[in-house]
Amino acid sequence: MANRRHVISWAGALASGVVFLALGVLFFRTGLDNADKLASVIGAFVGVAGFGGSVYGLVLARRSLDSTSPAVPGEAAAPQPLPEAARLRVPAGLAALPRPAPRVFVGREQELAGLQSAFDDPARLTVQVVCGLGGVGKSQLALQYADRNRGHYSLIWWIDAATPETLQNGVADLARGIASGTASSAASRATNEEAVTWAMAWLAAHPGWLLVFDDIVEAASLRPYLGRLHGGHVLVTTRRTVGWHDLCTPITLNVLSRQAAVSLLAELTGSPDSEGLDALAGELGDLPLALAQAGAYIAHTPGIGVRRYRDLLRASPTRMYAAAPAGGDPERLVARAWAVTRARMEEIGPLAIDLLDLLACFAPDDLPRDVLVRAVDADELDTAEALGVLASFSMVDLVDDGVSVHRLVQAVTLHQLDDPRRAELRARAAAALEGCLPARPADPAVRPAYARLLPHVVILLEGRQARDRLAELIPLFERAWGQEHPNETLLARELHADFTGRVGDPAAAARLLADLLPVRERASGADHPLTRAARAALAHWSAESASP
Ligand SMILES: Nc1ncnc2c1ncn2[C@@H]1O[C@H](COP(=O)(O)OP(=O)(O)OP(=O)(O)O)[C@@H](O)[C@H]1O
Ligand SMILES: [Mg+2]
Repeated sequence: MANRRHVISWAGALASGVVFLALGVLFFRTGLDNADKLASVIGAFVGVAGFGGSVYGLVLARRSLDSTSPAVPGEAAAPQPLPEAARLRVPAGLAALPRPAPRVFVGREQELAGLQSAFDDPARLTVQVVCGLGGVGKSQLALQYADRNRGHYSLIWWIDAATPETLQNGVADLARGIASGTASSAASRATNEEAVTWAMAWLAAHPGWLLVFDDIVEAASLRPYLGRLHGGHVLVTTRRTVGWHDLCTPITLNVLSRQAAVSLLAELTGSPDSEGLDALAGELGDLPLALAQAGAYIAHTPGIGVRRYRDLLRASPTRMYAAAPAGGDPERLVARAWAVTRARMEEIGPLAIDLLDLLACFAPDDLPRDVLVRAVDADELDTAEALGVLASFSMVDLVDDGVSVHRLVQAVTLHQLDDPRRAELRARAAAALEGCLPARPADPAVRPAYARLLPHVVILLEGRQARDRLAELIPLFERAWGQEHPNETLLARELHADFTGRVGDPAAAARLLADLLPVRERASGADHPLTRAARAALAHWSAESASP
């Protein structure tokens, strides 16, 4: 292209020279008097040629603009790099917690004191792990600790660590949070990988922070991050009880003491009937999540006191016990309280039930309300009202424009639905989600919105649909982030391989992963959790394709 332009410029210069020379010869031959007559004719030609030249110039300029404009809009402005991490200070007390600390919090004095004494030196890297059953109150304890100690930390950051991707997004968001204001556009332009590196550099240079990694499944996914840190406090919540011993001795959280369970119910319901509350707490196994739902029900249902609630609970227990999803006690306990609340929702109106069922089909946390409004046959106001009812019954959490549901509530809800209803809900949920997906996922301007929807996409878009969608995305990702970007391109390729296997082609999945694994090892390192996950996936699909 540049060569062609070079040739054209020389040809232009040569042509001008020839024309100039020809005019000189003409004027010399005809004499100046006659030349005067010719001048207007020549002028007209020159004018036309000039017009042609300017049109050609415009076309060239336009082409050169097109060829230098990026594949993705938004990258044209001269990118400002992120400032040096060690130099950037944060506003005092910067804290990002997923929701406000609850109005009612009971018990856990011993655990809070344990955390307090373990986290004594802000300049020393200290890890504490809280483990226990679902719904027992691990996240709530972490939230409480963080909230009570806001004054002791320069920064508190909460990270949803349920999957390696949400974990990484959370750390990348930390960079965006720290840089907001001073370097927000550079931070939002940065890829996740760059943002993570920057965030880790910032944390290493500024001790005195608290990071909460909520709901980690495997200790291994935390290690690459911990290796880069020096001073600060890391609080982990997990259902997993094993794999933590080289980091610390985990705090195992049990159900509430009976006394704390009764005071929780008393606070929520305002009931003075301590004997009835004691019995109710016992029936709900002192499990905080089940107690919270029962308490919310009693508080928000006129004419229902503690004893009447126990009657309702007893009226449905056998069915609910039998129908509870496979799993430990928490599912059964939550299923009991859930059944009573659900019956009440059915009386209140179909919209609340529809929303609860739909919510069970998405990922548990932070579903934008827009998506829900698209999925139901109701307007925004009615939807907001129905969500308010669900929140008042402790079935959902509303924070800003996002809706979260406890995973146990989702599990119980899904388990109660019959197959056609589940299929119908999933189809509606997937259509609503597709409608809200940004049209150009590789565009940095929509990256945060896309990242927010991704966990829901992964859960909802099943089988062929997901495989095909990912196949479309891979070339886009390659163009935007490069062939070997570990957290965009390679992750999309791994998901694509996985869905290829799931839709019944394990041999193709194994081939895709075999091609991918050396790239992943090169890009992330041989021992990175994502590399190990890819290796495990390859082993899985190879075994599947070998089995008859
Ligand atoms: N100490 C407490 N005081 C009052 N309510 C509590 C307490 N602990 C938990 N709860 C209630 O129980 C619910 C479930 O708690 P939480 O979400 O912390 O469980 P979890 O152990 O993190 O479960 P999961 O493993 O599923 O994430 C909370 O939403 C809250 O309503
Ligand atoms: Mg939790």
